[in-house]
Amino acid sequence: MDFKQLKPFPESFLWGASSSAYQCEGAYLEDGRTLCVSDTAPVPEGYTDFNDGVDHYHRFREDIALMAEMGFTEFRFSISWPRILPQGKGEPNPLGIQHYHDVIDECHAHGIEPVVTLYHFDLPQCLQDLYGGWASRECIDDFVEYCRICFREYGPKVKYFLTINEQNMMALFQGAQYGGPKGQWQANHHMLVAQAKAMVLCHEMCPDVWIAPAPNITAIYPASSSPEDNLAAMDWDQLRNRLFLDTAVFGEYPEALWNWWVDQGIEPEVLDEDWVALKEAKPDFIAFNYYGAGCARYVDVEEGERVVAEAKAAGGRIAFMTGLMTYPGLAANVSNPLQKTTSYGMGIDPVGLRVTLRQLWERYQLPLLITENGCGVRDELVWEDGQPRIHDDYRIDYLRQHIIACQQAITDGVDLMGYSPWSAFDLISTHEGITKRYGLIYVDRDEFDLKEMARYRKDSFYWYQRVCKSNGADLG
Ligand code: BG6
Repeated sequence: MDFKQLKPFPESFLWGASSSAYQCEGAYLEDGRTLCVSDTAPVPEGYTDFNDGVDHYHRFREDIALMAEMGFTEFRFSISWPRILPQGKGEPNPLGIQHYHDVIDECHAHGIEPVVTLYHFDLPQCLQDLYGGWASRECIDDFVEYCRICFREYGPKVKYFLTINEQNMMALFQGAQYGGPKGQWQANHHMLVAQAKAMVLCHEMCPDVWIAPAPNITAIYPASSSPEDNLAAMDWDQLRNRLFLDTAVFGEYPEALWNWWVDQGIEPEVLDEDWVALKEAKPDFIAFNYYGAGCARYVDVEEGERVVAEAKAAGGRIAFMTGLMTYPGLAANVSNPLQKTTSYGMGIDPVGLRVTLRQLWERYQLPLLITENGCGVRDELVWEDGQPRIHDDYRIDYLRQHIIACQQAITDGVDLMGYSPWSAFDLISTHEGITKRYGLIYVDRDEFDLKEMARYRKDSFYWYQRVCKSNGADLG
């Protein structure tokens, strides 16, 4: 539907941007912090590790001041579990606790609402070593106890918590470490129960605080109009999206997926008390990350296995994406010939964002918050009249199109709370270094040369400033 007139963004709309602790803080062994699993994962050749990040741990005041200059009303960041609990459990680290008090206070001093992710890819390595991380039910209690500390400390001054960032990407990406699908879905189940218990605890300890899951969600298109491809799209939607949201919102696994798991003998073991925990919990809103829509094609088991094997043999990026997106015998994620992509091969589909927003709203009837969306590419720093400039018109174009999609979805009737793209400032990509930049604020460092890590305003900084300050009225 095209509207003659789009509704304005609501007055309370949150404008900001996002980050995650291990990708930006640096100070990876400072003030008592210990390693997390992302610190110890192998770093692809040619890319930096996360040790120094962009030094946000020391420069958060400067970064938050720049965000305030842009007119942010929201900043999404994550708390580092191993900074709060260096042993993963037990005695909290006072310096770690204090650090996030300082960050939150600094946000408030600038009129910025902190949106706090509790867990963003940074399980303490010691828990991985101790009992295999999420493979063990022990991890449920340790996560809940970690959350208890965060709710006690920060609950009185935070309005929005997010439980787990992109559980679906972790479950699908890192499944291999759990020794096959049965272990993979068992570990995922532990995470779902931990999340449910954390949401209940949050409501008990901080009745006015809102809490939400934060998966990576995207609409799935069938690759053709064939009924089989349509079924494949429904299956892929269950595995990629609904497995993580139906469980969080309704306390139920999606039926077709569950029945397929049972048929394959790979369903997780669910204790009676787990069902109770899942049913008891309900998020107050849904946060989600969006980077382009998905597309599915029906494949039989034989073809699915062949596709995965070929992609693995080819190595590199194809294997990376195919390994993530293909599940033999269920459905295969295929590239959509109609979807544009960035130079790094990530999708650009603003209409898909509108579709995703509508599907989420229709299914779950909960307010929605976009916690990631963005254009990760190389930027060029140039000096003009002695001034640093980054002419990132491609990023402006990307963000503008997605913000228009948000406004269309609002006009459609979707309850959208805010837009928090990735990322506030340049930080280290999960697997492609610092040269793949997403930020509105440029950080002057290279893969292996830290330089001064000076902060510079990109063209998108000034553009987004107009967007924030006009509450989305000025997108020009
Ligand atoms: C999301 C993650 O998957 O996408 C972020 O939550 C991540 O942590 C972002 O950085 C962009 O992906 P990448 O791989 O380019 O860093």
